[in-house]
Amino acid sequence: MVVEVSGLSKIFRDFWNRSKAKAVDDIAFQVRQGEVFGILGPNGSGKSTTIKMLLGLLYPTSGTISVFGKNPRDTKVKHRLGYLPEESYLYNYLTAAETLDFYGALFDLPAAERKRRAEQLLDMVGLAHAKRRPIGEFSKGMARRIGLAQAMINDPDLLILDEPTSGLDPIGCKEIKDLVSLLRDRGKTVIVCSHLLSDVEDICDRVIILYGGKIRAEGTLNDLLTVSGSNTITTPALAPKEMEKMLAALRSLLKDEEFKVEHPKRTLEEFFLDVVERARSENIETAGVLSGGKIAEYLEGGGDAEKGKILDELAAPEKREEKAPPPPDEEERKKTEKAEQALKKLTKKKETPPEEEKPTPAEVDKAELEKANRKLEKLMEKK
Ligand SMILES: Nc1ncnc2c1ncn2[C@@H]1O[C@H](COP(=O)(O)OP(=O)(O)OP(=O)(O)O)[C@@H](O)[C@H]1O
Ligand SMILES: [Mg+2]
Repeated sequence: MVVEVSGLSKIFRDFWNRSKAKAVDDIAFQVRQGEVFGILGPNGSGKSTTIKMLLGLLYPTSGTISVFGKNPRDTKVKHRLGYLPEESYLYNYLTAAETLDFYGALFDLPAAERKRRAEQLLDMVGLAHAKRRPIGEFSKGMARRIGLAQAMINDPDLLILDEPTSGLDPIGCKEIKDLVSLLRDRGKTVIVCSHLLSDVEDICDRVIILYGGKIRAEGTLNDLLTVSGSNTITTPALAPKEMEKMLAALRSLLKDEEFKVEHPKRTLEEFFLDVVERARSENIETAGVLSGGKIAEYLEGGGDAEKGKILDELAAPEKREEKAPPPPDEEERKKTEKAEQALKKLTKKKETPPEEEKPTPAEVDKAELEKANRKLEKLMEKK
């Protein structure tokens, strides 16, 4: 266990010691080595307060916290932690390179090592070209990136990121997500706190959801998000005849129940990344951030050159190389439209009665379906 928290509460008091806000209210959770743990919740739900207590920056009102088996205020623990706060706290007059050098010095790293790490980190977060510019001039996204680099200068075993993607464009978000996954692959533990759900959905192994300082839900994303009452089957595109056959089979199997056939959709994020990647491959100029996303070699396991290479290859996401399919021509479009209409007809019940008169599926059928589902789930688990 990297982090163990139990009975943790934090009450903020005013000058007269009157209770002002119960920011964290009797929470308990554990974070295991090598996992990405998400602390989610709306604004003011106690995420940052929890994180600050984990870091030893705030005293808990009650409860216990252990980080690497010790009190979080222990200096030995602090050396193994990396922290990206939600607000920028960097010195505006220092350049990007000087900033990393400064934080490296706080960890007593020798000058040569600081320089080596700083260069790798700047490359990693896509700021190599801006290393001599003062932080004060940075855009929001650039400041976030240098903050992230700073959090990793000491090669931490536990990285705590408070809203890591706030202020970042979708490319930056994707890069941060890829980086977090890579760090996990290298055995690091990461705690991410965010209210941007789509940003954490892809990377978190387990999450807690806070509201009013209490844990309202907890578990693996898989457990929390799987809808067990229905199934999705994805097939390669089928010829109309094959499709008809399959639908007829489904129709007879499902009797009166309705079902849906859809084309899987790409997310807007995937589409956006595609468009930008194409622009990049056409060498369209930008004054903004260049692509980062390659992990710094020194971060644990980097000494192993072969492994590093493999990881670098992994870091270059294949997805972005896939080009979006060209738009279908008019004839194709009409054809698919027609096919889709035919499909719609087939997936509806044979004679659709008016809405009010719709017969509810017999309880027996439902029970049967649930039974089949349970069987299916068991089969999948065995795998
Ligand atoms: N230093 C402080 N003094 C008094 N109250 C505080 C202090 N810090 C936080 N709080 C209160 O504690 C509660 C939780 O705040 P916290 O910053 O932990 O929320 P959060 O979940 O991180 O929210 P956000 O998503 O907005 O960052 C809020 O009601 C806030 O007003
Ligand atoms: Mg916060």
